[in-house]
Amino acid sequence: MSGSPTIGHIGVFTSGGDSPGMNAAIRAVVRAAAVSGLRVSGILGGYEGLIQDRVQPLGPRDVSNIVQRGGTILRSARSDAFRTPEGRALAHATLQRHGIDALVAIGGDGTFTGAMRLTEEHGTPVIGLPGTIDNDLAGTDRTIGFDTAVNTAVEAIDKIRDTASAHDRLFFVEVMGRDTGFIALACAIASGAEYVMLPEVPQRIEELVSALAEAKSTKSSSIVIVAEGDEEGNAFAVAAKVKEQLPQFDMRVTVLGHLQRGGSPSAIDRVLASRLGVAAVEHLLHGTQGAMLGEVCGRVLATPFSEAVGKRKSLDSHLLAILPILAT
Ligand code: F6P
Repeated sequence: MSGSPTIGHIGVFTSGGDSPGMNAAIRAVVRAAAVSGLRVSGILGGYEGLIQDRVQPLGPRDVSNIVQRGGTILRSARSDAFRTPEGRALAHATLQRHGIDALVAIGGDGTFTGAMRLTEEHGTPVIGLPGTIDNDLAGTDRTIGFDTAVNTAVEAIDKIRDTASAHDRLFFVEVMGRDTGFIALACAIASGAEYVMLPEVPQRIEELVSALAEAKSTKSSSIVIVAEGDEEGNAFAVAAKVKEQLPQFDMRVTVLGHLQRGGSPSAIDRVLASRLGVAAVEHLLHGTQGAMLGEVCGRVLATPFSEAVGKRKSLDSHLLAILPILAT
């Protein structure tokens, strides 16, 4: 994880699903590098852009007025070509042509897996920043974008609650998270949901049905948050199974989808992204590479990519335990 390459020129890119706060991270990398006298180039479109030589210089003024913007000024993509050794050789050739000595990769597990391959095969030093709404990376308490995505989803669920109460309805609301339930659990607690379906927790439809039947005796509306990766299926599938056993319920399904990925980042995400972006440059200059930076208990820590990607992060068991108490 440590070495002492001479670094004069850093490449920065965003890859995989975009997340709010990526722009704040790019801005921090560019400005921290400039303060240290380093050149920075932005690579457009993630690994695909590296293969296709879509590289442009970035200075401090090029990243003005982006700290508050969602999406990513560098665009993002998932690259099939980069999964091949030939694709990675082309990417390395681009780095050599531009004299880029090291990379800051902002993304999730796919991004860091790609970074590991690039380093193994071509020796490129890479530091990763955790940019994904899913919060599914070990080595950081929160990923950049998670807080904003949860806030966006909770705002939407609050609105759903209004109409659910007005009509005495049961709503199933599907949230993102790929195969993890971090967004779902946080949303369930914050929105006062009656139940949450999580990929990490084996749950039976019968349990959900009895919880809903019980809630119906005292409440006018119920909301069930369904993580998109839940093993019972998506929100429509779960609603259909419940409908078979509770045909008298008036039910509706809402899939929040990609609106959770957009929007202006929360202050929490901006601060996290800014802190980690500056730290990325400092760590590269001190010889750290092959690692993702994260914030753990308030401190910036470097975790080797193999651990950040390979170790499964657990849901907060305390949050899991309090949900049924809060839903009474
Ligand atoms: O990883 C971020 C994420 O938004 C997941 O929550 C979701 O499963 C996936 O990306 C959606 O990917 P796409 O934007 O390619 O449809």
